[in-house]
Amino acid sequence: MNQNEQKQHAAQVALARIQDHMTVGLGTGSTAAYFIKALSKRVHEEDWQLTTVATSKESAELARSLGLRVQDIDDVAAIDVTVDGADEVDPNLDGIKGGGAALLFEKVVALRSKKNIWLVDESKLSPRLGSFLLPIEVIEFGAQQVYRTLVHMNLHPRFRMKNEEERRYTDSGHQIIDVDLSQQNDLPALARQLKAITGVVEHGLFLGICDEVIIGSQPIKTLTRP
Ligand code: A5P
Repeated sequence: MNQNEQKQHAAQVALARIQDHMTVGLGTGSTAAYFIKALSKRVHEEDWQLTTVATSKESAELARSLGLRVQDIDDVAAIDVTVDGADEVDPNLDGIKGGGAALLFEKVVALRSKKNIWLVDESKLSPRLGSFLLPIEVIEFGAQQVYRTLVHMNLHPRFRMKNEEERRYTDSGHQIIDVDLSQQNDLPALARQLKAITGVVEHGLFLGICDEVIIGSQPIKTLTRP
């Protein structure tokens, strides 16, 4: 199975975790899009009364275009389960997210969800996080100063670009600086340090957040938090 087939397979398997009347968090990215499509099909076939909360404008638009009810996160009492993709996952179910620049909303939704499920293909599995660059979301004002701090932290930062001249902006109007984790041995400490930098809004280290990883291989594999 190629990567897209694995993503689709994982999305189908994740449907079994969803029930009528749930409030479901919708992730962002190509894998989450497979899940949103599969979910909308199930909702229509079964005439489910489901509410969703989206982690990006892109996912909200897709879900609405497929007839799903999308609510603002502040208008729901609780989120039963969030289904998202990931950029890299280790055996402890820690991961890096934000390759699609949606890390801030993804983390807000994930931390308010009773359960978090990530759907991945086998290429996302890694014995140690750091093959994927870590996205850091920063406010525009003083972004260059934050960049310098990250240089001093030996993180080899680079601004994410939309094209050769323009920086990439997130749904919240922030910028992304991607950093290299390959020299970092204590990721929980790094996560705390990054959060303490004024101007940093969020980072893409999702530590201790995911409850289940569904790997869309054939046969399907799942990892659950010990
Ligand atoms: C979005 O910002 C990310 O966290 C995505 O969940 C991640 O990049 C996975 O994307 P794909 O499903 O497209 O591989």
